[in-house]
Amino acid sequence: MIKSKVGFWILSLIAITCTQMGMQLSHVPRLVTKPKPMPIVVPQGWPKPTYRFRDNPPTEEGFALGKVLFYDPILSRDSSLSCASCHLSYTAFAHTDHALSHGIESRIGLRNAPTLANLAWGQRFMWDGAVHHLDFQALNPIAHPDEMDAALPQVLARLRRQPQYQTRFAQTFGDTSITGERMLKAFSQFLVQLVSANAKYDQVQRQEPGVAFTAQELNGQALFMTHCNSCHTAPLFTNNGFANNGLKPDPELKDWGRMGITRKKADSLMFKVPTLRNIALTPPYMHDGRFTSLSQVLKHYAKGIHQSPTLDPKLRNGLPLSPNEQIDLVAFLLTLTDHQFAFDKRFEAPQ
Ligand code: HEC
Ligand code: HEC
Repeated sequence: MIKSKVGFWILSLIAITCTQMGMQLSHVPRLVTKPKPMPIVVPQGWPKPTYRFRDNPPTEEGFALGKVLFYDPILSRDSSLSCASCHLSYTAFAHTDHALSHGIESRIGLRNAPTLANLAWGQRFMWDGAVHHLDFQALNPIAHPDEMDAALPQVLARLRRQPQYQTRFAQTFGDTSITGERMLKAFSQFLVQLVSANAKYDQVQRQEPGVAFTAQELNGQALFMTHCNSCHTAPLFTNNGFANNGLKPDPELKDWGRMGITRKKADSLMFKVPTLRNIALTPPYMHDGRFTSLSQVLKHYAKGIHQSPTLDPKLRNGLPLSPNEQIDLVAFLLTLTDHQFAFDKRFEAPQ
């Protein structure tokens, strides 16, 4: 009570001083309104999210700020590229034009831009798990020379010059101070809301009226549970682990995956098990985008396994999948497409 009264008087004083100094009141953000909580909805039957919401409770204002940042090219050195240039909402936030990501000045990166969905359940981020907290993820693309190639102080200085950001940071965090930590928290408040849980698969799980798998999809699902679910575990379609799934290393890219982070030989050629949600929307496939279609992926698991010391033992002899079974499996994978998510207006570029 006393606190809010004191706050009121301080605010009034600031307002009076600003008016006396001839400043426009419209540029002084209202500091009193509290941001509106926007808890994420945990889909039925899913595990608890891993993101620590206590440390950064999502609000409508934070989500809106995170979204504006996500679509703003001033985050890249030459203002040519935003996060959304590589993570497009219509393709479940993956990038389907390129196998390897294209950064500013068309610099080619080492890896394929992955889908962004259900990140609140993620434990490690990037193909090699280099990032262990979602709040630090945005630093990577901003600073990476092959991506946005900007320095954080430069980015913050640009944001501070814009009245819209002063207002939005104040609405979200209570005052106009624009810091790296706040920017990263705002990104997470946007990213955790990207929940995809309304594919045909989910509707069948929820036994919604009028939705059922075809015989082919049912057979595909049974094959999936036998051969794929141990790594691509439902309902997130990842076990959040790392594995070597038998891809022959590209001699030019020299990408050893997780070993680059842990320096352990046992992690050589281990990559993060990616989610298979919205997989039909996110070609090309694998960390280097080497496969353009799901049928190529299935052929790889059946006949294309490259032997190496860290290869997952389950894949040693390839998976016993006949050509017809491969087709049925693809039919099942297509049921993981969530059109509502891909066309959700809330996630599109702000007007
Ligand atoms: C030049 C293209 C490019 C831009 C721009 C870009 N990303 Fe990415 N993003 C990628 C690539 C490629 C990866 C995978 C990198 C790796 O594994 O080494 C990735 C990975 C991620 C991941 C990890 C996903 C996971 O499941 O592991 C998140 C989250 C993410 N990006 C968010 C962002 C945000 C936020 C921005 C803007 C600040 C951004 N990206 C800008 C290409 C890009
Ligand atoms: C031993 C664990 C494991 C098993 C079993 C497994 N996968 Fe994978 N899968 C992975 C890993 C790891 C990757 C990423 C590899 C990379 O890019 O280096 C992957 C990648 C994929 C991708 C590409 C995803 C993307 O976003 O690029 C698809 C599609 C896929 N797997 C489908 C399947 C199917 C279908 C099965 C069963 C027939 C299966 N996987 C079995 C571990 C596994």
